[in-house]
Amino acid sequence: MFLKSLSGRFLLLTIIFVMLAEVLIFVPSVARFRLDYLQTRLDSSQIATLALLAAPDDMVTPELEAELLRNADVLNVALQRDSIRELMLSSPMKSPIEQSFDLRGASAWVLIRDALQALRHTDDRVIRIVGEPSNEAGQMIEAALYEKPLREAMIDYGLNIFKLSLFISIVTGALLFVAVRSFLVLPISRLVQQIRAFEAAPEDARKIIQPQAGVTELYEAETAIQSMQQQLSQSLKQKGRLADLGGAVAKISHDLRNILTTTQLLADRMENSEDPAVQKTAPKLVSSLSRAVNLCESTLRFGKAEETAPNLTDFSMQDLLREVVEGETLAVGDADIEISLQADDAISMRADREQLYRIVSNIVRNARQVLTAKKRQGEIRVKGDETADSWIISVSDNGPGLPKKAVDNLFTPFEGGARKGGSGLGLAISAELVKGHGGTIKLTASDSHGSTFRITLPKDSAK
Ligand SMILES: Nc1ncnc2c1ncn2[C@@H]1O[C@H](COP(=O)(O)OP(=O)(O)OP(=O)(O)O)[C@@H](O)[C@H]1O
Ligand SMILES: [Mg+2]
Repeated sequence: MFLKSLSGRFLLLTIIFVMLAEVLIFVPSVARFRLDYLQTRLDSSQIATLALLAAPDDMVTPELEAELLRNADVLNVALQRDSIRELMLSSPMKSPIEQSFDLRGASAWVLIRDALQALRHTDDRVIRIVGEPSNEAGQMIEAALYEKPLREAMIDYGLNIFKLSLFISIVTGALLFVAVRSFLVLPISRLVQQIRAFEAAPEDARKIIQPQAGVTELYEAETAIQSMQQQLSQSLKQKGRLADLGGAVAKISHDLRNILTTTQLLADRMENSEDPAVQKTAPKLVSSLSRAVNLCESTLRFGKAEETAPNLTDFSMQDLLREVVEGETLAVGDADIEISLQADDAISMRADREQLYRIVSNIVRNARQVLTAKKRQGEIRVKGDETADSWIISVSDNGPGLPKKAVDNLFTPFEGGARKGGSGLGLAISAELVKGHGGTIKLTASDSHGSTFRITLPKDSAK
């Protein structure tokens, strides 16, 4: 859990990275340590030879020789002066010299390779080192020594480096941990808390986040969230107001419809009046009143929010379309409008029959109403067809095409109505019902020669 947090990961990664860096430093520094160690042995060997050179006849007692070698920490020393190599000091060795290392001008790679090799050998070998005497005291100085103490010193040194690296990485990691916590983790959890608070009461403007992060990127994130919350809060308020308004409209429509229905009954009676003037106006009054009642009813129907989910049944497409056509033909009255039907009687479809009836009749009714208003010879063609994957119903007329207002607000409730007495809901309701079937409704033609609406219902969503 801890390692999944941002600060936990930073801590772990820092320790790993610092250790990695230390490994890279370790190898050359161990090589350097070995070189220094051997160089020191050569220097002390050279000092030991000085005692010998100062003695009469270059001779010392065996005790002093052993003492000098012990002090120099080597087994024997040879010095080359004036091209003559002389074994200056010597002591018995457990084994012969196994390997010789020339320290003069050895490259870094050679030193690194030799150091790694020294770490690998586990037996106590005798090695010889060759170097240059200091202060030009000769051309070359050589010393033999056991390798084991060298290796132990190198391991000690390596362990010290490791401990130091561990300490450095833990301290760095801890410092980064604290920094990440205060610069990132705490501001992020504060941000999350603020978002949650807003989530609990999105309409409360006081809960909108106030940017205050010190880190630029976080500050930008806070600003973006702030602007999103402001918009959300505003649109929620607007939605709330619209919902209140919708509720009020529904109540008004309801009461108004009842009042109008009573008035309609009274107006009906007026038709029997003796007064010719009243007789003449009464039918107009009745039809205005029925339009008003219709408006109230459709508003109420629409206010019932979402239409119920379609109740799918199998039926003949031709039968359904014929019902629509017959119903609308009855409503044509004396107007010169012909409604024709073309659909194969073999097509069986699966949909909500009642809803599909409403969809098609809304469209046919619109065409009929437009043609009746234009008082010209009209033709409405209802066509039903099917393809491998959908059922298609199209309704065309030879009317004047849809007015711009209707096209611009096609399928938007109340907005698209451009007909006197219309409420602008018919197409919106049809579109909603078609959508409920997973289908589409499109205006495929609309010009001075007429309009065509095309409904496509996919077969696979009817399974
Ligand atoms: N076939 C058509 N030809 C010309 N105009 C049309 C046709 N169908 C629809 N319209 C226009 O589109 C508008 C929107 O139609 P819609 O059915 O949504 O509302 P409405 O008929 O005005 O009212 P409602 O159907 O709710 O009683 C209509 O007012 C009409 O102007
Ligand atoms: Mg309509």
